[in-house]
Amino acid sequence: MLKFNDKKVRKMQGNKKVITHLNNLLTGELSAADQYFIHSEMFADWGFTALYERMKHEMEEELEHAKALVERILFLEGTPDVGSREALNIGTDIPSCFKSDLAVEYSVVAELKAVIKVCEEEQDYQTRQILLKLLEDTEVDHTYWLEQQLGLIDKMGLPNYLQSKL
Ligand SMILES: [Fe+2]
Ligand SMILES: [Fe+2]
Repeated sequence: MLKFNDKKVRKMQGNKKVITHLNNLLTGELSAADQYFIHSEMFADWGFTALYERMKHEMEEELEHAKALVERILFLEGTPDVGSREALNIGTDIPSCFKSDLAVEYSVVAELKAVIKVCEEEQDYQTRQILLKLLEDTEVDHTYWLEQQLGLIDKMGLPNYLQSKL
């Protein structure tokens, strides 16, 4: 006779290679969250409330990305590495903060694309789908917005841009 316990659902055993890559992406997301955190606080201190709100939104999205990666790593029966960080590049004024954040976003885009390729090779299509959502936020939201701001600073001049953000 079949007992209830015999029907226990087995979790998917994750591919070690995919888990390692997901942990590297997690380090990138947590590092980006930290960088947005300090930049948002600097903008608040300088009196740029709207830019503070925007940076805080970016930080929260990076933490959502980190959450998606942690959930997936746990599902694959891996151990999420929440302690590692990449070196932060903290700006000294608004343009240098934007430039260093944009450099982080570009590197995350490149890493995401590389790991999406690994998922395809390993036929892990569910992880691939999660990473596609992260790629969309990274390219369409974060990267685009930062490029726009740097473009506006270029066209209007920094004093005009800053005045428009007060
Ligand atoms: Fe992110
Ligand atoms: Fe981002």
